[in-house]
Amino acid sequence: IRVAVLFGGRSAEHEVSLQSAKNVIAAIDPELFDVCLIGIDRQGKWYLNDASQPLLTNDDPKLVALNQCNTDVSLIASDQTGQLISNGQIIDSVDVLFPVLHGPFGEDGSIQGLAKLANVACVGSDILGSAVGMDKDVAKRLLRDSGIPVADYIALRAYQLNEQLPEHVAQRLGYPVYVKPANMGSSVGVSKVNHPQELIAALTHAFDYDTKVMIEAAIVGREIECAVLGNNDAEVANVAGEIITNDQFYSYDRKYVDETGAQLQIPAQVDASTLTKLRQTALQAYRCLETRGMGRVDMFLTADGEVLVNEINTLPGFTAISMYPKLWAASGVSPRELTTRLIQLALQ
Ligand code: DAL
Ligand code: MG
Repeated sequence: IRVAVLFGGRSAEHEVSLQSAKNVIAAIDPELFDVCLIGIDRQGKWYLNDASQPLLTNDDPKLVALNQCNTDVSLIASDQTGQLISNGQIIDSVDVLFPVLHGPFGEDGSIQGLAKLANVACVGSDILGSAVGMDKDVAKRLLRDSGIPVADYIALRAYQLNEQLPEHVAQRLGYPVYVKPANMGSSVGVSKVNHPQELIAALTHAFDYDTKVMIEAAIVGREIECAVLGNNDAEVANVAGEIITNDQFYSYDRKYVDETGAQLQIPAQVDASTLTKLRQTALQAYRCLETRGMGRVDMFLTADGEVLVNEINTLPGFTAISMYPKLWAASGVSPRELTTRLIQLALQ
């Protein structure tokens, strides 16, 4: 079975994707699968196999962008397998796409749509689950509609910015709030806003990344995450994980730059009934949001035991510090078994 691993990509999470891809590529069982590499640069150009290596091995983003390889590749439809085309010639065919792409142009349904058009199986959610999982506003509306608790929020387009907003937010949500792009991950573009006078700057920053922005009430509670795997018979990892950030938020830098800024506690120290509630809520959110293959559900646990869903990640990180593979490993599923199951789920 020929598996094409896609990595890099046009989103602001390009670097994170490269770190995830290294681990996914190393984990895929070479006895079961024949791996082909497709690196996507920041401009969206595709590089196949050897030509994709500079993206993976070059950690300096400026050098990556300057690196010009000659092969550009695209995928077209065929009967059984996807055909990779370069310069008008068929150069390869693939059975499964494994998008290790985070954020827009990878986690949002676009690659999933390409796979569907090309008749190639794709690891993870289909178009719908990817798209609703990526859009925090749409995801929250669906969760709320299913009776799954979420933090109160306001979604905003740029034309809705006005001078009354800081006061409106004070009345409606109270400060502090979190301001984030509606479609993004890894905390890119996210600010914690403690005072009304900081709101507009935070919104302007978030609008650099998206045309829709979220203003979310801050929940006082613990941040707990659960890992889900499967299609109709999806299961939740036995162990949950907690992000401990010493009262700060789990920013991009705390995740990937200064890793001492936050700690992952696996397993999360919760009692058995709370763990059951967290795992059940994660599964409900996964089903509600039409997620397939895999998803990491990020939740808040308040002091009085309430569980709120913050978001779902349909292509969660696989970096060295990422929760999703760690939760499965702690539940007895190795990275090799995890990638095998993900590929098999795509082929179901
Ligand atoms: N968006 C990042 C990769 C995550 O959720 O792990
Ligand atoms: Mg996310």
